[in-house]
Amino acid sequence: MKLIIANWKMNPTTYAEAQKLARAAGVAADKNKHAKVVICPPFPFLSSTLYSLLSARFSLGAQNCGPEVASGPFTGEVSPAMLKKLGAKYVILGHSERRAMGETDEMVAKKVQAALRAGLKVILCVGETFAIRRQGIAASKKFVASQLRACLSGINSTPYSPPATRLILAYEPVWAISTNLPKPLLAKEGEGGGLEKPADVVEMIRSIKSLLSTRYSLLTTPVLYGGSVNVKNAQSYLNHPEIDGVLVGAASLRPKEFKRIIELTGKAKF
Ligand code: PGA
Repeated sequence: MKLIIANWKMNPTTYAEAQKLARAAGVAADKNKHAKVVICPPFPFLSSTLYSLLSARFSLGAQNCGPEVASGPFTGEVSPAMLKKLGAKYVILGHSERRAMGETDEMVAKKVQAALRAGLKVILCVGETFAIRRQGIAASKKFVASQLRACLSGINSTPYSPPATRLILAYEPVWAISTNLPKPLLAKEGEGGGLEKPADVVEMIRSIKSLLSTRYSLLTTPVLYGGSVNVKNAQSYLNHPEIDGVLVGAASLRPKEFKRIIELTGKAKF
């Protein structure tokens, strides 16, 4: 079983479009027994109408949440408990686009704890920048490990720590995100097509899984890959048993392409 997560980001613009996208993804999810599909729309589209489309293989997630479980003086924030009541089962936290707006590891760690306490499944994003990646895979692994430790600082630290069994990791190298836009970083450097090579992703994911098991005794935490996953490259990631699924941005807004990515889970060699 592979997890296919759609990060719609700040899209689409209308509720009607959101329903259309959700319906297409839901139909594809129900037809493919090798995939669990989660769509993560913007907050206003996380409503009871989308909820009626959900099933055992098709769930809703949010793209962020506030740092406290239920309520409090946090203008503009939405609590994980509120999201849960709306029907969301998952929440993406620590996405690099939020980190670029000033979200620190400490803030992410608070949100991770609040979301787990509220009963949500957390999709925690980690990943190195291009400047770090240019120093090599060892430097990248070191960076990702320290990001992971900082974001999981409240996990297993006291007997009252939130249960980490609802944790999912997403390895998203910052430089590989949104290369569908005209900025293939590595290509510019003459080093490739702007995408992460599956073999390098596997190496990074093995290193993340090893840290999760040795430091947190998390032996079965799924680790996904994200960064310009599309219909052309999805199979090359899904074929690896170490890669438990993909987090898809731009391609999840193209209904036919997203459906095809879901269908590819049936062909994955795992
Ligand atoms: P992308 O986005 O697939 O458009 O690169 C992935 C993400 O940001 O989660």
